Amino acid sequence: MNQISQTLDDLVSRFSAAVSAASDERELDAARVAFLGRSGEITVIRRGIGALPSAERPTAGKIINDVVATMEEQLIREAQRIQLRAFDAELATSIDVTFPAPASRLGTLHPIRTMTSTICTYFERLGFAVVLGPEIEPDYYTFDALNIPADHPAREGFDSFFITDSLLLRPHTSPMQIRTMEQHQPPIAILAPGTCYRRDAVDARHLFQFHQVEGLLVAEGIHMGHLKGVLTGLCRELFGPQQNVRFRPSFFPFTEPSAEVDTTCPKCKGETTTCNMCGGSGWIELGGAGMVHPNVLREMKYDTDVVSGWAFGFGIERLALTRYEIDDIRRFYENDPDFSRQLR
Ligand code: PHE
Repeated sequence: MNQISQTLDDLVSRFSAAVSAASDERELDAARVAFLGRSGEITVIRRGIGALPSAERPTAGKIINDVVATMEEQLIREAQRIQLRAFDAELATSIDVTFPAPASRLGTLHPIRTMTSTICTYFERLGFAVVLGPEIEPDYYTFDALNIPADHPAREGFDSFFITDSLLLRPHTSPMQIRTMEQHQPPIAILAPGTCYRRDAVDARHLFQFHQVEGLLVAEGIHMGHLKGVLTGLCRELFGPQQNVRFRPSFFPFTEPSAEVDTTCPKCKGETTTCNMCGGSGWIELGGAGMVHPNVLREMKYDTDVVSGWAFGFGIERLALTRYEIDDIRRFYENDPDFSRQLR
């Protein structure tokens, strides 16, 4: 009898070690078969009962049954442990669809687009219509109709990408003056923003693809004072209430007189000689302008005794460089959302 108890103690501790070491259901079942299976260790011990004196047999049977019951309980606990662990492992590698998603990073409007729409809004308020046109133009719209005949040296200055002898990527937005006047009679007040192309080597101030905005006003009694007033208003809208503009004499075949337009340096307000934005001049160049050349108006069959007009063309990147105080024009096209996000 004592002998059986001792054997059982030893068996239970080995069983306990085996089942708690089992790491999956297969190992657990192997332990069950080895100890509790039909030809397992318990069965061997049960067979030993027959060798005992008959008075001891019922007690021995009960002891064995109790031990088996505790073993079976442990087996159930270990099976639960293994199941839980498998569940945890599955959770760790599976997707929890109820978990809050990481917020997606919103993009933002490109600073050139923001700049363009600010300019458009200003001009729309003044009653100008915003018009768009093709980026591939015949040379008639780009040059001839703008008073730049085929042999005129001014064509050189536009460093154009020619597609055929007479088709090119527009090097400025001025063709939109012609396209508009061709289709409408005065009064005309349009703003034409858009992409332009020139064979320029890329550096901190130049790109071969950039944006311009063209303005054109043609009606009775239009003079340069209107131009200066409208552009002063634009610069105050873009750079602040203290801005002024100045006109420097210049030359464009399609305007007469012609001017380069400068605005007060928004950074130093013209008050220092060491400003790195304007080089100490106190002025920033915005682009070209002037009174529409009579030859252009005549080409459009307008009566130059009745109507006159002005036009201007500004580089949008240049305006944005100035407004956001950016040192290198190439930054606009690195497609860095963090860069754009800062410039709202
Ligand atoms: N188209 C000219 C340029 O790109 C600018 C301009 C436009 C000048 C309108 C005068 C009038 O250089």
